[in-house]
Amino acid sequence: MSVESTATPESTPVVEASTTAAQSTGSRASRPKAATRPAGGLGLRDAMPELGMTEYWYPAIADRKVPRRKGVRRTLLGQEVVFFRGKEGQVVALSNWCPHRNASLAQGKCHFAGTITCPYHGLTFDETGEAKAFLGEGARSRYIGRRGADARSFPTQTHKGLVFIWMGEGKPSPIAEDVPPEFFDPKSLVLFSQQRWKANWRPALENLQDSHAFYVHRNSLEVLSQDEHGLNLLLHMGPERPPTKIVNGRALVFENTRFFDFQDSQQKRKTNIERAEFQETYPGLGGAKFPRTKVRLHLSHVMGFLRRHLRQERDWMVKDEEWSLGVHLPTTFRFDYQTHVYSRAVTPKNADESWIFYYNTSYPATPLRRLRHRLNYVLYYDWKQHRNFSGQDKRIVEEISYKEPQEKFSSSDAFPLAYRLLVTEHSRKPDAD
Ligand code: FES
Ligand SMILES: [Fe+2]
Repeated sequence: MSVESTATPESTPVVEASTTAAQSTGSRASRPKAATRPAGGLGLRDAMPELGMTEYWYPAIADRKVPRRKGVRRTLLGQEVVFFRGKEGQVVALSNWCPHRNASLAQGKCHFAGTITCPYHGLTFDETGEAKAFLGEGARSRYIGRRGADARSFPTQTHKGLVFIWMGEGKPSPIAEDVPPEFFDPKSLVLFSQQRWKANWRPALENLQDSHAFYVHRNSLEVLSQDEHGLNLLLHMGPERPPTKIVNGRALVFENTRFFDFQDSQQKRKTNIERAEFQETYPGLGGAKFPRTKVRLHLSHVMGFLRRHLRQERDWMVKDEEWSLGVHLPTTFRFDYQTHVYSRAVTPKNADESWIFYYNTSYPATPLRRLRHRLNYVLYYDWKQHRNFSGQDKRIVEEISYKEPQEKFSSSDAFPLAYRLLVTEHSRKPDAD
């Protein structure tokens, strides 16, 4: 399996990255193979739809953000949507533009249970989008029942307080094919946060499992608080990563999860970080070393010592391979920390912005542990993981010039490249339904 960068008008040397070969390369110094490709072809990057894959369920909005008597407007996959509450109190969604003369329904009111009324002439829609009354024209209005008077509705489902939306052209797929299993498990605790990144969904998602982690996040609290194993994983985001495979045509996962096993490394009490050279010497920089100090290495020993003595319990939480370490269609990245599961899902907003949803999943055995986990999330984890750590990604990703005519890949870019293949070759397409 090989991938090709976007071709330029001239014949340009590009890196040929195989998802298996590139990731199993044993040395950091190894060079990707360059090949000359003929001009033409859009390339995988441009074959991914700019406004997102439409035939999927996406996280849209927290249930608690939708009031009782008003609508809330959100831009999702390039479309304007209004969320309000249906008859049973559930969150429902319609296209935001009133079919009469395109006023914004989100400015309207919910005068009657399960309806929203356009702020302009009072056309009133139920939760299916059917126009039920035209308050401005009165009860004898002949507009009601007329073809084209109804608003487009989008299927929604709410799980664990998060509203998911289907904006596809086809019949909605079973939601469990697109949304992680913990959302349907009564025993799980799923906490989530939402951010807006000023970046297209593709660069936002491709900020994954490549060689940026140790460098970009080197001063994050997350890196400074890693034990030896965690630091080692961050250090080896390059060609040493284990190979990936595609599961059920829906997920790209790592083949060898032992590589990531905190529990395993804890039992052995040592990891190969002590054998690896933490500070490498760069001949091109006159023999300079990077990192410049061994502070992070020493800190990792302290953290490792503490964790081993606190006997922090760890075990794999995700049993289903399809939802294990990797990325699942449409846009959910997963990492099983064995104390909780980290997920990051991207919902395209428009061509230049994305909604980022972070899920933190755990299975606390007692109400007290549940409370402790919640408190930790609110008071510390949310800031540490999503603001401090991911804020460093956000800052870089928002400034990427994604539309540049070419990219020159390294072998350590194999993961995001493999994701491009997953999207272009395996994702549901609008005409497939
Ligand atoms: S624009 Fe909505 S009722 Fe006229
Ligand atoms: Fe990152």
